Amino acid sequence: MIITLSHISKSYPSKNILSDVSLTINEKEKVAIIGLNGSGKTTLLNIISKEITPDEGDVFYGGKISLKSLKQHAFENEELSVQDVFEQAMAKVVALEKQLTSLHQQVSLHPEDEKLLNKLSNLLHEFEDMGGYHIQSTMETMLTKMGFSKEVLSQSIHTFSQGQKTRLALASLLLSYPDVLILDEPTNHLDIEMIEWLEGFLITYPKTILFVSHDRRFIDKVATDIVEIEYEKATSFKGNYSSYQKAKLKMLEKMQSAYHRQQKDIERLEALIEKFRYKRSKAAFAQSKIKYLERMDRIEAPSKGSKNIKFSFNPYIKGGKEVLILSDLSIGYDQSIQTLDLTLRRGQRVAVLGKNGVGKSTLLKNYCGRDSFLRRRVHLWSSNPLGLL
Ligand SMILES: Nc1ncnc2c1ncn2[C@@H]1O[C@H](COP(=O)(O)OP(=O)(O)O)[C@@H](O)[C@H]1O
Ligand SMILES: [Mg+2]
Repeated sequence: MIITLSHISKSYPSKNILSDVSLTINEKEKVAIIGLNGSGKTTLLNIISKEITPDEGDVFYGGKISLKSLKQHAFENEELSVQDVFEQAMAKVVALEKQLTSLHQQVSLHPEDEKLLNKLSNLLHEFEDMGGYHIQSTMETMLTKMGFSKEVLSQSIHTFSQGQKTRLALASLLLSYPDVLILDEPTNHLDIEMIEWLEGFLITYPKTILFVSHDRRFIDKVATDIVEIEYEKATSFKGNYSSYQKAKLKMLEKMQSAYHRQQKDIERLEALIEKFRYKRSKAAFAQSKIKYLERMDRIEAPSKGSKNIKFSFNPYIKGGKEVLILSDLSIGYDQSIQTLDLTLRRGQRVAVLGKNGVGKSTLLKNYCGRDSFLRRRVHLWSSNPLGLL
């Protein structure tokens, strides 16, 4: 056990967020916290990372563990270079390496000392766990995977854009190998390639991870455990997202059949009561059944959540078959970053994929006429205005 939450409650003046939540997180588990927006995922992470205190209950930590989130890992001094920041992050590994060197020397002087040998073996294990042997190459890979060249190492943090800073902070957080890594929607800041690389890193991360993500595929790849927050309670499930879905479905089916069984029972008893309550000889029997019904723990009808709600909006006037035709389109600001041809047909749902900076948002903004294209031959056939969220 590395973290235990015991009877945690937290509420804000407007509403209760968590009530009487108890939870155990074990070493090396990779726990995805899931739940609807506003259900309290971030609140739970903030309680665990000690950023907020719960109204009731306690959090227990197994020993002296280091615990870090991206928010806590923001840059304190933006004058520092990327190299400085990364070196600070890797300080633990470097210190461990020094300790190992001196321990090796001691062992060579006293090869019979069991205590020293044990200590050496433990430290070696820890060093290996933290990727100590290849920390430098991990750092370089991380840099390129996060969309930077090696040259940025000498650049000061304040010269980067907000998005780049977040990615650098994430990289240095990962390099610091905390015992408990806390990530609140890390994929929001990353493009597809980066997400795939992060998945790989987290899967082999030798320590505990608590994370929130809306990306089910990402959760499926990384999570060993799921904690679902629903109706102010937290429920743990072993396994990844797919096994959670199966377990959840089974739970719902069980609740559903228990509910139906009870409803049938209630109907049967009510019929009996109705039949006998005015018969003098059976009045006591009817009374006892009425009492029984009153005392019964009623099972609530299980709700399948918001998945059942369906909306459909039918357009007043249907658009033409081809809604938008763009040819020889050039997007960009001062200079062109992409040229493309594109035809959108009615009913199509098109996902725009690509690395950060290739011009995905620029393309969407251009569609909606917020920016102007650098060069284009556009035929807009739809009479309906385009909307941008
Ligand atoms: N400091 C705060 N004051 C008041 N309400 C808050 C505060 N922080 C969060 N909340 C509310 O608590 C609820 C849970 O928030 P949060 O933990 O961020 O949910 P999630 O991360 O699951 O989307 C939300 O309804 C949010 O508006
Ligand atoms: Mg949140």
